[in-house]
Amino acid sequence: MLIALTSVKGSPGVTTFAVALAASWPAGARRVVVECDPAGGDLAQRFGLAASPGLLSLAAAARQPVDQDVVWNHTQPLPGGIQVMAGPPGAHQARAALGTLTSATSPLFAHRPAVAVFADCGRLDPGSPTEAVIRHADVLLVISGSHSDELAHLATRVHDLGRIAARACLVLAGGGHATNAVERELGIPVMARIPDDPSGAANYTGRAAPHRRRAGGLVRVASVVAQVLAAGPSREPSPPVLDAVQQVPGVPAQPTAASGVRVLRPPVLGKDVRS
Ligand SMILES: Nc1ncnc2c1ncn2[C@@H]1O[C@H](COP(=O)(O)OP(=O)(O)OP(=O)(O)O)[C@@H](O)[C@H]1O
Ligand SMILES: [Mg+2]
Repeated sequence: MLIALTSVKGSPGVTTFAVALAASWPAGARRVVVECDPAGGDLAQRFGLAASPGLLSLAAAARQPVDQDVVWNHTQPLPGGIQVMAGPPGAHQARAALGTLTSATSPLFAHRPAVAVFADCGRLDPGSPTEAVIRHADVLLVISGSHSDELAHLATRVHDLGRIAARACLVLAGGGHATNAVERELGIPVMARIPDDPSGAANYTGRAAPHRRRAGGLVRVASVVAQVLAAGPSREPSPPVLDAVQQVPGVPAQPTAASGVRVLRPPVLGKDVRS
């Protein structure tokens, strides 16, 4: 299963959530986080990984015909055991590697039902090489902040993303407008809301000492999203734009509309909602 994660603006926590989701994936399944961000990767620096193996070494290998399982030769383990394929820190190198790894025969797109590949596509600027990853993905998670400026950017892209991805799900992050207000204004359902959880995020950005690890809000949301995605698509007919696979507890169900995107006014000062 290929799960692509992306944002449209800012740094709402895509890389952090990709690692949290992989760590929360049901036990027994092989999983790997692939850092496809065209702006360059963060995982090697955050976790003190070696420069190679990683995305660059896989791209070099994939210039020749390769076995589908070659991916595992280009990963390194994080302290918790999750395998990651770290991207190079520089955008030029990252884009060059993605040029090779987004061809139709890319080992990243090999069909592996028993493997979960979490592709961190970074910010999806128009013309990004990671559009090919999104087209091949079984699921796309679009992660966005929830303030008016962030939602305004999201509104300009979200319907296109819903069309190019097989199954696209919107995930909000942090404080800002209430989830049901965003659903109403964008006319699409929200799959989950990642809470502002700095100590939870520290676990997945190499900043937390192992003894300080605890199951906070970020971990809880990652676990629910992992269970929903691992269970596969719901049998309900999909709404035409973004597909809310299942409402996450705490996010009220909303009727969906395929059009009529509006953008919320900023919340009244002191009334930011964090649900
Ligand atoms: N749920 C969260 N609560 C609090 N802080 C978070 C959360 N998720 C991520 N962060 C913090 O936000 C910062 C950015 O996170 P991250 O690198 O995951 O974002 P990103 O969307 O991948 O950004 P970029 O597109 O620049 O790569 C990091 O310092 C991380 O610790
Ligand atoms: Mg990132």
